[in-house]
Amino acid sequence: MSHRIVAAAHPNLALVKYWGKRDSELNIPANSSISVNLDGALTTTSVAFDPSLPEDRIFLNGEPANREAYCRVSGHLDRIRELAGINDRALVESGNDFPTAAGIASSSSAFAALSLAGSRACRLDLDEKQLSILARKGSGSAARSIPGGFVEWEAGDSDQTSFAFQLAPPGHWDLEICTVVLDSRPKRFSSAEGHMAAGTSPFYRARLETLSRTLDLVRTAIRDKNFSSLAPAVEREAISMHAVAITSLPVSAWMSGLYYWMPETLDLIQSVQQWRENGLDVCFTIDAGPNVHLLYEGKDRGRLEAELEPLIARLGAYTIFSRPGNGAWILDE
Ligand code: PMV
Repeated sequence: MSHRIVAAAHPNLALVKYWGKRDSELNIPANSSISVNLDGALTTTSVAFDPSLPEDRIFLNGEPANREAYCRVSGHLDRIRELAGINDRALVESGNDFPTAAGIASSSSAFAALSLAGSRACRLDLDEKQLSILARKGSGSAARSIPGGFVEWEAGDSDQTSFAFQLAPPGHWDLEICTVVLDSRPKRFSSAEGHMAAGTSPFYRARLETLSRTLDLVRTAIRDKNFSSLAPAVEREAISMHAVAITSLPVSAWMSGLYYWMPETLDLIQSVQQWRENGLDVCFTIDAGPNVHLLYEGKDRGRLEAELEPLIARLGAYTIFSRPGNGAWILDE
């Protein structure tokens, strides 16, 4: 058996979203995106290659992986085996300390940790760029969980030009993220379905046209730690992604569009606008799920918690607090 490697990675939250693919085999996105790693959530993954195993053995959160997850993880191990020139099957054990597949980007931390643990377990020494490229092929957004802190994923136009890099380290800005978990069940419609349908929205082109300005705004706001210019850009960007999702033609004929939101999601959106009107510097963003991520600066945490408390009780939600987190790392080898 090869030595067992344990790696960890945080999920990342997109401030500028990846929505739609240029190449769905290689996960080359239609647009560049920007994210921040969430240090309040963690995936831990161990990998050991073993020549005596007849097939990969994969356990997720303590249970044997279901067919779909098994194929995805085993397919990613094939990429690693090909890079290393080996054939051995592997034992993989992975666990999340947060809800899986509910719009908290569990696939981003999962494939980042798997790429790092898997490549090291077969003695590949990939640099950050090559790890990001490898993780991207498992799940696009995983490319962004390899570097630490605030990260940009350059869309690129080929396998070797599409990877993520750090814009600023975790300690650069005292920005905090409160994830409000309204529903911790796996979402009904995967992000893969959303990416595939995106191009059918009449607003998709319009969204892509606004993105280079949004990317500039968000990049500059991060550099200057300027919350009042970050907030409207991030919030409008999330709405733009969801407007495309809602107006896309999904594969099932009975659906008029992809709604990732629940009534409680809108409740929270309207509360955030109200809080802002009352002078609290906070904004929201939402990935492909119903849960809402609130962004604010550390100095405003007390006020935010006071506003949130009654709402959380009324909505039956719970919260996960994060600061900008590190990139993927080795826990044990
Ligand atoms: O990496 P995927 O295929 O799960 O897509 C992620 C899509 C969003 O989370 C909605 C946006 C993003 O950039 O992370």
